[in-house]
Amino acid sequence: SMPWRKAWINPSPSLQPDPASLRKQLERRAYEVWISEIMLQQTRVAVVIDYWNRWMGKWPTIQDLAAADPEDVLAAWRGLGYYSRATRIHEASKLVVQDAAMQGLLPSVTTDLEAKVPGVGRYTAGAISAIVFGRAAPMVDGNVLRVLSRQLGIYGNIKTDKKIIDTIWAAADALVKATALDCDDHEDVNTEVSDRPGRWGQALMELGSTICTPKPNCSQCPITASCRVYSEARKMSQTNKEAS
Ligand code: ADE
Repeated sequence: SMPWRKAWINPSPSLQPDPASLRKQLERRAYEVWISEIMLQQTRVAVVIDYWNRWMGKWPTIQDLAAADPEDVLAAWRGLGYYSRATRIHEASKLVVQDAAMQGLLPSVTTDLEAKVPGVGRYTAGAISAIVFGRAAPMVDGNVLRVLSRQLGIYGNIKTDKKIIDTIWAAADALVKATALDCDDHEDVNTEVSDRPGRWGQALMELGSTICTPKPNCSQCPITASCRVYSEARKMSQTNKEAS
């Protein structure tokens, strides 16, 4: 469905993509994912879709956004809340378009994304790096914190405990790197970039928003076999049954 992305991820000598159009497509995709991930940080997917479509109708490229009227940008954000985010995205778009090194294309590496694009933190940097550029970068939102804390058997407060949050980010980093390498059944084996990191991160987010919810539906979960909290809870109920 995205042949240009396939070409970027797995350039084949027989299929020589036009570098200029490939760059344009990457630039467009990076801009689209950036806007969607910022919108999705505060609002549910079902609500974001309309906002995102209207936004892309008004400003289909990052250059269009950079040239937009600040009043129009705020108006397009109305209803999403946290209006400083709209202003910051607008300012960042001008910076990315005017910067001599970026020239309208967001960086692909998380450290550059965080350092050079105002408003992009480690979550958004990971999402752009993995989904758009195919790099093995972790993306940990609230849902992924919950999924991985259960998988790893971490019982502390995942909302407030900085040490626990960092531990889960480190685990997500190791896991997404292993995932990117563990693909010998795929044609993208041994390439530096792969579509697997983006798919892996988004699958975890989806699992957290549909099945591994605050009140989880473990009978529907595809990864109970590796889940420590699941197996420890089962052991516990077994022990209780034997005692009564
Ligand atoms: N929530 C925010 N961004 C997401 C994504 N890319 N995939 C799934 N859920 C998300």
